[in-house]
Amino acid sequence: MPKPLLLVITPFADDVLQPLESCCEIVRWRALPAPSDFLRERGPQVRAVITNGLVGLPAGSAEHLTGLELIACNGVGYDAIDVAWARARGVAVTNTPGVLSADVADLAMALLLAVFRQIPAADRHVREGAWAKGPLPLGRRLAGSRIGIVGLGNIGRLIARRCEAFDTTVGYAGRTRQADAPYAYFESPRELAAWSDVLIAATPGGAATRHLVSGEVLDALGPKGVFINIARGSVVDQDALVERLAQGGIAAAGLDVFADEPNVPAALLAMPQVVLTPHIASATHETRRAMAELVAANVQAWAARQPLPTPVP
Ligand code: DGY
Repeated sequence: MPKPLLLVITPFADDVLQPLESCCEIVRWRALPAPSDFLRERGPQVRAVITNGLVGLPAGSAEHLTGLELIACNGVGYDAIDVAWARARGVAVTNTPGVLSADVADLAMALLLAVFRQIPAADRHVREGAWAKGPLPLGRRLAGSRIGIVGLGNIGRLIARRCEAFDTTVGYAGRTRQADAPYAYFESPRELAAWSDVLIAATPGGAATRHLVSGEVLDALGPKGVFINIARGSVVDQDALVERLAQGGIAAAGLDVFADEPNVPAALLAMPQVVLTPHIASATHETRRAMAELVAANVQAWAARQPLPTPVP
């Protein structure tokens, strides 16, 4: 019997993929000379795909993947994957929860400190020889700040723990109050923002959280407020954010995610009070490996007709 066809859509570690050759025929989307010919000729034979939460299935491919059984997402966020569509067709969807949470929380703290202590500007100050000519303008103390976390899931909780270690006070907004969370709960992101010195977005992306951090929420954060986003670009109204930053409606921002990656508005690039990183929250050797191994474990379990380790909720 021929092995089931596994289509690997996004870049994936060769050495983690290679053992899957024992259970699957593997085709890499990016190595295909003519992807549309492949879809027409072999699309119905594809039984499983590996993708990520930003890419999902390539545009126009879904109609050809009539034999699909598994979408294995290499990431915790799966906002580009139409889970309702998959469920309706009996296609399982898995993701990589847990293994990247600590790294994402670390990056939230790194952005927070980079903004408060002006780390990119300080680095430039030294490198460009400005130190001998005068000091860097003073930064801002983080200790004592109120940190509002929008979304107290796994990642939000790890951010909260780290914030406690930095002697800050944590509050959160989410769908429900969490009885075991020792932090102030706010019914809405706007109320949380009004209380906070710093607002950190830590929710999943997708339609349910689109523009949850609206212009109104940013106005509530106010002219001294700092906004940090390690969630998804879609969670904030990016135009409203740029406008508030330009006009002093909020003080500063640290952003790892954007509305239309890898495109970043020119206005943000020009703002010294904004620290930008290229969606690297999970980008460490250790975590990217753990994610890839979890994806492979899901594919192996599916091929062996075993329970999937991490189906999406
Ligand atoms: C995720 O897993 O959703 C991250 O954004 C990937 O870096």
